[in-house]
Amino acid sequence: MNKISIVGAGRVGETTAQILAEEELCREIALLDVRPGVPEGIALDILQMAPFFEFDCSISGSNDARILKDSDLVIVTAGLPRQPGMSRSDVLEANVRIIDEVTDQILRYAPDAMILVVSNPVDTLTYRVSRRTGWDRSRVFGQAGVLDAARMASFIAQETGYSAVDITTLVLGGHGDTMVPVPRLCTVNGIPIAHFISEERINAIIERTRQGGAEILALRKNSSAYDAPGAAVVAMVDSIVNNRRRILSCVAILEGEYGESDLAMGVPCVLGDRGVESILELDLNARERADFDRSVAAVRADIERLRELG
Ligand code: 2OP
Repeated sequence: MNKISIVGAGRVGETTAQILAEEELCREIALLDVRPGVPEGIALDILQMAPFFEFDCSISGSNDARILKDSDLVIVTAGLPRQPGMSRSDVLEANVRIIDEVTDQILRYAPDAMILVVSNPVDTLTYRVSRRTGWDRSRVFGQAGVLDAARMASFIAQETGYSAVDITTLVLGGHGDTMVPVPRLCTVNGIPIAHFISEERINAIIERTRQGGAEILALRKNSSAYDAPGAAVVAMVDSIVNNRRRILSCVAILEGEYGESDLAMGVPCVLGDRGVESILELDLNARERADFDRSVAAVRADIERLRELG
């Protein structure tokens, strides 16, 4: 991939840019932010890491949306972060205005790009971007499930004492309190986690995963999480850039899958160089399906609020 742009040079945007550069996943990284000097300063700072990490891609920053020109992928992290005690949906009203403006800039300067939405509430904002661009759903998707699955894997690693590298987890649904961790499909190197962890402890891990973002926000106080979120975005970019066709839980536009349409939510997707290649439909058991439906209802309520906002 030649050029990746990041809109929003906040902490998630900066961390993403840093890891993208370190891993040399493209030749050019552009940072767009509304704050004067900030994107330029961050670009310089990351560029000066080059001798340590031995990368030689170019990194630049600007307040001018023309910097998006010729992007192959635009990662959208712009928006207000939630404050302690707020839910992700509480920033919907403020962030939808920002996202609309960003979408129009992408339509103008990078009409052939793919868009990866990170800003919250990510399901609803991915839906918004999809509808505003009118682009094929393969090119507009969001990050949530990769982060939530990583959080769940880290909790399972802590609980069992086994390597996080061997732990596979799956989290579906909306990126909020109703997200759907699926312990039945979580394993330690192929062995179901129920072999190692009691039902009561698995339930505690599910709950902690659901509250994973809030836990960090409450501890940090003046910042949401950004290290793991940046790494999660880069994992998706890596699958796209290298056409790995990894199966990752992405926020995708549903067109009949899971019996739902006109909705964006976390589902397992094949992610390759054309973006979301396909969506996998899993056979959910009754409890998983009930949890999934609850999550659908929560995301639909936010999309309904979008409609009211106009
Ligand atoms: C998180 O889960 C901010 O949504 C982000 O940490």
